[in-house]
Amino acid sequence: MSTPRYTVPGITPADAGQVIDRLQQRLHALNDLALTLKHVHWNVVGPHFIAVHTMIDPQVEAVRAMVDETAERIATLGGSPDGTPGTLVAERTWDNYKLGRADAQEHLVALDHVYNGIIQDHRRAAEATGSADPVTQDMLIGQLHGLEQFHWFVRAHHETAGGALTDAPAKNPPAAKRTTTASKGRKK
Ligand SMILES: [Fe+2]
Repeated sequence: MSTPRYTVPGITPADAGQVIDRLQQRLHALNDLALTLKHVHWNVVGPHFIAVHTMIDPQVEAVRAMVDETAERIATLGGSPDGTPGTLVAERTWDNYKLGRADAQEHLVALDHVYNGIIQDHRRAAEATGSADPVTQDMLIGQLHGLEQFHWFVRAHHETAGGALTDAPAKNPPAAKRTTTASKGRKK
């Protein structure tokens, strides 16, 4: 655990250390998401190319802003944010995105899984940080507003008029498995 030598007023260094560790993992997840979204932006093909290609860039910009906000919260708490790719790969608990050049629908189903994993972990982090640092919790909840809206944008592409997901995760095993809990898919 990271224990900062100083932190914001009203929090003990030990509590701040736990929050910093949580935030470091969220920083990795958001950095990974921003890179993965650009990868999809470049590799999507097929009749829905332009819809997906152009939908993704505003998501990249918003997620990059979340990356910056998260890293700066770590620093504000007295920690040292690690934004290097080597540490990200060493410390991430999910699999790398599997698809290369592929049809829009395949990427959208894979992105559904990506958002599913990151949102679940963000919600857990928001819950876990609430009592020690409600300011961090508030930041994470703010990020969830955007992440959940982007998840809806992705899912709406494979949703029926009746509201069902035609390529729901349960029906089609993911091309890019991004489960992030210990019980469901630690990195092999
Ligand atoms: Fe571009």
